[in-house]
Amino acid sequence: MSDKKKYDLGLIRRPRRLRQTLSLRSITQETHLEISKLVQPLFVINGEHCTESVESMPGINRYSIDLLVKECKKLIDLGLGGVALFPKVDSSLKCNLAKEALNPNSLIYLAISELRKNFPELTIIADLALDPYTKNGHDGIFEVGGVSPVNDATVEIIEEMAILSARAGATMVAPSDMMDGRVAAVRSALDANGFKSTLILAYSAKFASAFYGPFRDAIGSKTDNSKNKIDKSTYQINPPNRREALLELGLDEDEGADILMVKPAGPYLDIIREARESTELPIAAYQVSGEYSQMVAAAERGWLDLKSCRDESLIAIKRSGADIILSYFAKDYAIDLSE
Ligand code: PBG
Repeated sequence: MSDKKKYDLGLIRRPRRLRQTLSLRSITQETHLEISKLVQPLFVINGEHCTESVESMPGINRYSIDLLVKECKKLIDLGLGGVALFPKVDSSLKCNLAKEALNPNSLIYLAISELRKNFPELTIIADLALDPYTKNGHDGIFEVGGVSPVNDATVEIIEEMAILSARAGATMVAPSDMMDGRVAAVRSALDANGFKSTLILAYSAKFASAFYGPFRDAIGSKTDNSKNKIDKSTYQINPPNRREALLELGLDEDEGADILMVKPAGPYLDIIREARESTELPIAAYQVSGEYSQMVAAAERGWLDLKSCRDESLIAIKRSGADIILSYFAKDYAIDLSE
């Protein structure tokens, strides 16, 4: 080997030229994540002037409605794209038929209407599912002795929830229950009740993920006898299944969904990419509770740098094709970006 060869590879292509300075890295950056694309999920509790921290999600609180209003004011000022609301319902109000879900004066509907009153333009996403209201934490109701939620009877309740949410002022309803046929049913229920402009954000490719653990803690839907595990695999998608996810996305589009969602986000970037390429509808992705908590926990141990990992995880979701991202990091990302 000659000396020359050793020190000069004689390359034509040197991709590192593009990376030499911050300025060069900036003008060649391919993906950007605007604050306006982010949605903050928020947990709501009963009471006044109170917040509770969520133990398994450090930095995340549950808010009483008055403080929820204040929090949303901050998020609006930061320029976030919207909020997705989830109630923590008092356990005394839970029953196997999820009756509280249809009480027009239930916490979630009061929260939506209070926000709408204060912020006419705020994008408010109301989740449609029964898990905050059932004793067993499932997203549907059961027949006596049944082993999994009954589909069509559950959808009837979801339709009613959609109407109550729209009436309270929700911009979008977001069925997250994974019952078959619920998007079409919700669309016709909304239309029949004069809510033609209410959007449907469908949790279309929602996988039976273990990353939802901390969320179930946050809304108090873990049952005593099954601490971390509620098995939703008879209705949520089996994680190894890509074609099945595409099928669900296609069905929800055909049934009239306005926006399709993939959930969780980080472990399912391939599905987000395929979703983006298989439809012209906007694609949302939900970076779920466990994706948040794992980074926060590792950072607390000094094992990861939180801000860098947070930003990398968010831009990866965007790069994979998501137009809208729901993330518990939304507010902090926006704060750091606007500094
Ligand atoms: C339930 C629902 C879940 C999430 C949003 N809606 C959990 C579940 O399906 O058990 C999870 C969100 C998260 O983990 O952040 N309808």
